[in-house]
Amino acid sequence: GDILQLISVLPKAQLHLHIEGTLEPELMFELATRNGVLHKLPHKSLEEAQAAYNFHHLQSFLDLYYAGCAVLITKQDFYDLTWAYLKRAAADSVVHAEIFFDPQTHTGRDVPFATALQGISEALADAKTKLGLSSHLIMCFLRHLGPESAMTTLNEALPFKEHIKGVGLDSSELGFPPSLFQEVFELAAKEGFKVVAHAGEEGPAEYVWEAVNHLNVDRIDHGVKSIEDAALCAHLSKAQTPLTVCPLSNVKLKVYDGVLVEKLQVLLKQGMCITINSDDPAYFGGYVNANYAFLAQSLGLVAEEIYELHKNSFVASFLDDEIRAAHL
Ligand code: ADE
Ligand code: ZN
Repeated sequence: GDILQLISVLPKAQLHLHIEGTLEPELMFELATRNGVLHKLPHKSLEEAQAAYNFHHLQSFLDLYYAGCAVLITKQDFYDLTWAYLKRAAADSVVHAEIFFDPQTHTGRDVPFATALQGISEALADAKTKLGLSSHLIMCFLRHLGPESAMTTLNEALPFKEHIKGVGLDSSELGFPPSLFQEVFELAAKEGFKVVAHAGEEGPAEYVWEAVNHLNVDRIDHGVKSIEDAALCAHLSKAQTPLTVCPLSNVKLKVYDGVLVEKLQVLLKQGMCITINSDDPAYFGGYVNANYAFLAQSLGLVAEEIYELHKNSFVASFLDDEIRAAHL
């Protein structure tokens, strides 16, 4: 009742959101029809697509997520995708969004970097004027394509630097530890990009240490496996390195059980900078407020804890200090 109402009206920042993961089945089929690529989709109907959103682990999700991206071809497609998300986010009282995109998922299909970037950026600019929603764009390297391809992508991004706030690292985690990408991330930091990485989602706590020590990250995306390493938790709390946690994603991808969720509350109480986010809401069955609500209901969070999480979302954001202060 009251807690759900509080969650729905609290202005919040969203820090872990893959724009490609906001492609709802309806829009997927609409774009497939518009572009004449229905045959490229793994499912024949909307219902069939939705029924397939039932995952066993990260890779079973990623296979469908990449397949769905086949409908994103023109600048307008990227605009429509992003605009649909931003309207949905505004309905959840999101006032600032830091949005991931995966350039290699598009350049690998011969969709130019500029096409994706410009479509997304134009929607972000419209959100600022029409919805009062500010944003930053973060480009993620696909770890399964390795460090060389990441380096090529970083160089492709340099002409568009003014539109890109940071770099991240996503896709298949196991077997692709953060340390492989040290050189790319060093160069990105030198170019002035903020630095984040998915780590400790499906991979071990050791990968979170690597993201901290080899990539010098400003935030850890997911990071829930840190819970298994007390020294790591102590370090993250002391350094106030934020974790962008996505509860419904973790449940859908079966990365942790209820016991770990409870530990999350302990870490929050100990002062770790935990934030709540939605990851790929079209696939995981809920936008950001649904993620807050799920956690609130499974842990019995009180209003004070909801405020803490909402405050953390701005503290952990890449907003300028003055603007951040205005949100706190
Ligand atoms: N790409 C999109 N969503 C992802 C996730 N949850 N983990 C890794 N890569 C992703
Ligand atoms: Zn993610």
